[in-house]
Amino acid sequence: MAGDLYYSEYLQLDKILNAQSPESIKRNLTAHDEMLFIVVHQTYELWFKQLHHELDSILLIMKKPAMNDNSPELQTVVHRLNRMAVILRVLVHQIDILETMTSMDFLDFRDMLRPASGFQSWQFKELEAKLGLKFEARYGQEYYISKLHAEQIDIIKKAESERSLLELVNAWLERMPLAPSYGEAKSDFWDNYLDRYTNSLADVEKDNLSSFDGIFFEKDRHEMGANSVQRSLSPKACRAALFIMLYRGYPLLQLPFQLLNSLLEIDEQLSSWRYRHMNMVHRMIGTRIGTGGSSGKDYLKAAADRHYIFKEIAQLNSFLIERRKLPVLPPELEKRLGFVAS
Ligand code: HEM
Repeated sequence: MAGDLYYSEYLQLDKILNAQSPESIKRNLTAHDEMLFIVVHQTYELWFKQLHHELDSILLIMKKPAMNDNSPELQTVVHRLNRMAVILRVLVHQIDILETMTSMDFLDFRDMLRPASGFQSWQFKELEAKLGLKFEARYGQEYYISKLHAEQIDIIKKAESERSLLELVNAWLERMPLAPSYGEAKSDFWDNYLDRYTNSLADVEKDNLSSFDGIFFEKDRHEMGANSVQRSLSPKACRAALFIMLYRGYPLLQLPFQLLNSLLEIDEQLSSWRYRHMNMVHRMIGTRIGTGGSSGKDYLKAAADRHYIFKEIAQLNSFLIERRKLPVLPPELEKRLGFVAS
């Protein structure tokens, strides 16, 4: 019977509250702050678990071939992405608590932790992979291979081999039926937009034009030459995303815009976490190497710079023009973007 459920049993508090075993106590040494260190890390791992729970449900919806911008499913995706961003914001602030521990407090137990390290947080790496970070794009691949247990590497590899959120967003954008099309020749809309964008650029920004063609119109990116950067978003997807950003005021584009915006929020919060963590590490251990054997702060800085997942979406903001200069949409299209379909 439901009435028999007891708070601590439901939450399995006997397990959670007995899962802190400071190394210092095992060795009969005093290190008051080790308990804080363990509890903060455990809290992070629980929140990582919740992030996976949200993300898995999002991926499941987005893998459906027929997800429709008007359906309740898109609303669910946006809602859960926003929740992920809020959780990440809390994770950034949790560093405040750990920073009440000083370097000397940390030294009381730091050496007992070797070679354990945040490197081995497979939930974190799996999260990056599900969002869209591929192995080839990782900084410090050698640590990833050498520091984790084989079964945890398998979990991350599996996530890397499946369709990531970034790939599913690309497919969703490509399916978006409302953006003006561009076939053999640029359609009037995109010709017109390019003219207006060109006129909006300052002289020192004119280089943006060459990327514009590559990002939005290149039919086959393989033809862009060996120096071209591997991109995750196709030209068609980029045109749809730009269109959503430009005309987000129309009812039908509001949710798609929120979806794109929440991806940028997630990237920004993840990056804020990396920077806060890196600064905390610098403050705590200076330039010493990490317990996992990396160069410490330098490794974390390089990973923070390289591991932005939705950077191609953020880059699209370089190609916006002022609202008052936007091309007026054909009445037919305007009607389709409104609430009233008839
Ligand atoms: C005193 C506090 C902390 C210090 C000094 C510290 C130090 C480090 C260092 C030096 C690394 C690089 C790997 C290595 O050589 O060990 C690292 C990686 C990492 N740490 Fe921490 N850390 C602290 C707290 C935390 C907390 C609270 C979390 C929360 C889960 C965390 C999660 C991670 C993760 C996920 C990585 C891997 C990052 C990546 O590969 O991009 N760390 N940490």
